[in-house]
Amino acid sequence: MGLGHRADEACAVLADLLGPQGDLDRGRAPVWRSDISDDHTPVEYSVAFEEDGSHTLRLLVEAGAAEPGRRANLDAAEAALDRLATRYPLALDKLDAVRGLFLPEDPQGLFAMWFSLVLRRSGPPMVKVYLNPQVRGAAQAERLVGAGLDRLGFAGSMDWVRAHTPRQGGGLDRFSFFALDLEDTPAARVKLYQSHHGATAADARFAAGGTAAADPHRLTRFATDLGGDGPFRGRPLVSSHTFLASDAARPRGYSLYVPIRDYVPDDGVALVRTRAALARCGVDTAALDRAVEAVATRPLVDGVGLIAHVSLRMGPPRPGVTVYLSAEAHGVAPPVRGTAAGAA
Ligand code: TRP
Repeated sequence: MGLGHRADEACAVLADLLGPQGDLDRGRAPVWRSDISDDHTPVEYSVAFEEDGSHTLRLLVEAGAAEPGRRANLDAAEAALDRLATRYPLALDKLDAVRGLFLPEDPQGLFAMWFSLVLRRSGPPMVKVYLNPQVRGAAQAERLVGAGLDRLGFAGSMDWVRAHTPRQGGGLDRFSFFALDLEDTPAARVKLYQSHHGATAADARFAAGGTAAADPHRLTRFATDLGGDGPFRGRPLVSSHTFLASDAARPRGYSLYVPIRDYVPDDGVALVRTRAALARCGVDTAALDRAVEAVATRPLVDGVGLIAHVSLRMGPPRPGVTVYLSAEAHGVAPPVRGTAAGAA
């Protein structure tokens, strides 16, 4: 990805975040069933392709304790964040403002705090934290998200979010992540993610609706080209809304994440579809091929899930396409032959 000169630094930070789980050999069973990826590898790659031809490499990471557990991993994440903050100039004010909501004594759910490291050609990595709206149980998720947006200066935006939730009340649309850029710039974002279970592309259009930058036609095309006509009854479509400091009550950007791995027979097909989606956005696909080749340790047709999600980003700060690549350190899902997924 043209970031070779940053590799030593990135590996050092990654090893620090991973803790003892980073010492496991490939192919060994995971010590913690991290939800970062299907085989529980606690790190996932993503490459964000920008419309101007540049790209960025990111690592999504779950910090691990020596004796992993929900509380222990949160403690490990907090300690790792302290170390990161001595290394890089992180802005922690937003996280501090919502800590009392999202980081309880007794976290529930699949995780409490994940990190994203954004590696750039120059300058230190940008750090993002992902918090879990389900961390106090599903019944509290909406309250946490609303209070979180309020505390960060987006008072009133919860009404907007509610009005753009495609299927209210049925539990099909669930808040899945609340993410913060730990950066003290006007471009620092708050991102709110919702998972749409059993949804159609029309539901995604509804969720995007009103975000000035979201083009309904492109959204539909993106979802169907990557995942078929839907409804998406495997892993859910995911929406994210981007809130920027400059405008309070409504989001400015929208992204749609398609969990392509549940809608293709194997990664060979996934790569062909992903290439086509990139090309349609005017993005050069050679960098995608290099990224896949760097990560894959097997023929693409021998498994499914190396390409986990593909997302379309619309609106500020940077429109483009992002491809999420699994590390597959603990295992590979076999290809799916002759079923609905294969035919999708
Ligand atoms: N593995 C989880 C999932 O697929 C969480 C996750 C990791 C995720 N990367 C993601 C979710 C990208 C949406 C988009 O749900």
